[in-house]
Amino acid sequence: MALLREAVQQTHRTLEACHIPDARLEAEVMLMNVMRMQRHDLFSQQETVVSPQQEQALAGIMERRLKREPLAYILQYREFYGVNLLVNPDVLIPRPETECMVEHALFMALMGMETPDLVVADVGTGTGAIAVNLALHLPAARIYAMDNADPVLDVAAYNIRAHNVADRITLAKGDLLEPLPEPVDLILANLPYVPTDRIPDLQPEVRWEPAAALDGGPDGLDLIRRLLAQAPERLKEHGIILLELDPEQVPAVTELAGQLFPEAETSVEKDLAQRDRIFVINRGMGEY
Ligand SMILES: C[S@@+](CC[C@H](N)C(=O)[O-])C[C@H]1O[C@@H](n2cnc3c(N)ncnc32)[C@H](O)[C@@H]1O
Repeated sequence: MALLREAVQQTHRTLEACHIPDARLEAEVMLMNVMRMQRHDLFSQQETVVSPQQEQALAGIMERRLKREPLAYILQYREFYGVNLLVNPDVLIPRPETECMVEHALFMALMGMETPDLVVADVGTGTGAIAVNLALHLPAARIYAMDNADPVLDVAAYNIRAHNVADRITLAKGDLLEPLPEPVDLILANLPYVPTDRIPDLQPEVRWEPAAALDGGPDGLDLIRRLLAQAPERLKEHGIILLELDPEQVPAVTELAGQLFPEAETSVEKDLAQRDRIFVINRGMGEY
């Protein structure tokens, strides 16, 4: 029987040899999971013995992971902006880039956007990652979380209940902004934006994720284009839109925003890798 320290090292080595990204982190998360430990225990209890049952559970996880199934699907959860979210293969695994969009929306709200009746739309909600975090941090906001697929909305509904924010999030099914029953102050959208012909080149893990959450058409902008066409009537006079996109798409979206929102200011926020990632269309909420 191995000690915890040895099990982490061995798992790390095996993952690394198979070119799995973030091998050390993944090894630690796997051991935390099978040992039912918090991260700090992993370091303070390095000499703990890993039982045969725990070794077997670890072997099961490794067998799947070495076939490049994402760890989040194997463990059925992903941490996003500090909260754990249920994930399954019906939904995109929330990404750190999207945490930047949440961060920016919260920054704008804290800088004065939050009114007693702030109304937000999270378009293409997936796990509900964006909606849940906004509801947790903006208790006065009312949020519509929308997607066009029932199995996706089931996952979002679970996460919304699990984080006790169901009283402030309304789930709705439909195409982009169509289900919205009222104009909103803020639209956040992480819609599929990968150009179709780039999908085969993505890392193997991405092939386990739903194509409907990734494929944005020939230039990746099919959904964003349609969303922006729907938005002028559904965004309040002083509202803001935040869109996640690929840095290469910034010029095309700048042009589109200029046509559809000639009165608005646009800007771009960077992700953690300092790449242009969040496109902001500000109809006049002031300076943020
Ligand atoms: C890239 S995923 C983002 C999920 C989640 N917002 C996140 O950031 O992790 C895009 C989501 O948009 C949804 N979607 C795709 N086309 C849609 C449409 N026409 N109307 C509404 N939602 C759509 C997909 O089902 C998927 O859940």
